[in-house]
Amino acid sequence: MSADGFTAAPPPGAREDWTIDQGWADYTPEEHATWDILYERQAALLPGYACDEFLHGLDALNLHRGGIPNFDEINPELKRLTGWTVVAVPGLVPDEVFFDHLANRRFPAGQFIRKRDQLDYLQEPDIFHDVFGHVPMLTDPVFADYMEAYGKGGQRAQGLGRLQNLARLYWYTVEFGLLETPKGLRIYGAGIVSSRTESIFALDDPSPNRLGFDLVRTMRTPYRIDDFQQVYFVIPSLQALLDATLQDFAPIYAALETASDVPIDAILAEDRVFTAGTQAYAAGGGRLATAD
Ligand code: PHE
Ligand code: FE
Repeated sequence: MSADGFTAAPPPGAREDWTIDQGWADYTPEEHATWDILYERQAALLPGYACDEFLHGLDALNLHRGGIPNFDEINPELKRLTGWTVVAVPGLVPDEVFFDHLANRRFPAGQFIRKRDQLDYLQEPDIFHDVFGHVPMLTDPVFADYMEAYGKGGQRAQGLGRLQNLARLYWYTVEFGLLETPKGLRIYGAGIVSSRTESIFALDDPSPNRLGFDLVRTMRTPYRIDDFQQVYFVIPSLQALLDATLQDFAPIYAALETASDVPIDAILAEDRVFTAGTQAYAAGGGRLATAD
């Protein structure tokens, strides 16, 4: 997502809106091969894990022409489907820059790709996370509307001083959201689908809580940026997510000013419980305990 809340100057070589040329011709053969390894692994795993909207988007954009996708080749089809385009940025961008891009249906994607020793995990969003993880969902008309609305909502939340709450909504939907389907729970969150280990953890592991999505509940729940999530929120449909966010958030923000945070592993009486997790993974030290 984005970094801090103040206006910083774009880095040298970037435009005023922080975009840069993708520089597709300059990727090395090894970088293209890194994309191919990651792509093959996820494409093989995700049927039965990712939601249909994601899998359709992956097909529609033909992201596997061999090597890192060229934005000039993806954008005409993406634009035709939902009016979105992908633009290249050097890395994380300031919040207001991020929101302005989303509000105008431009998705800012990291230009660089992770190194070979980071195949399973890195904290900074690279092109694999941003393009493989986020862009397929942008081919879905409902999700496309949600992301634009989120960009506009971000600009508003910033003005109202409630960005921390809105960022949690983004985290628990766009990045780590699960969807209830007749076939079972499926992933739509980009942070999950772009990670082999978290795709399996998010759906199959007994540790995390899986709870029904509730807008205010989500905005009261802190999240972890350093490890697998301890709670995932399940939406009944993309339309239901969009509908829940169309209301005016100003009264919600006002109420949140005095509301306490919900502990990350809590289950509340009013939660709809899909899984009451054991929390064994987090209790055992998580990534620190399992790192090789
Ligand atoms: N409806 C929200 C507001 O009034 C904006 C929003 C839309 C936020 C979609 C997130 C997602 O601020
Ligand atoms: Fe992301």
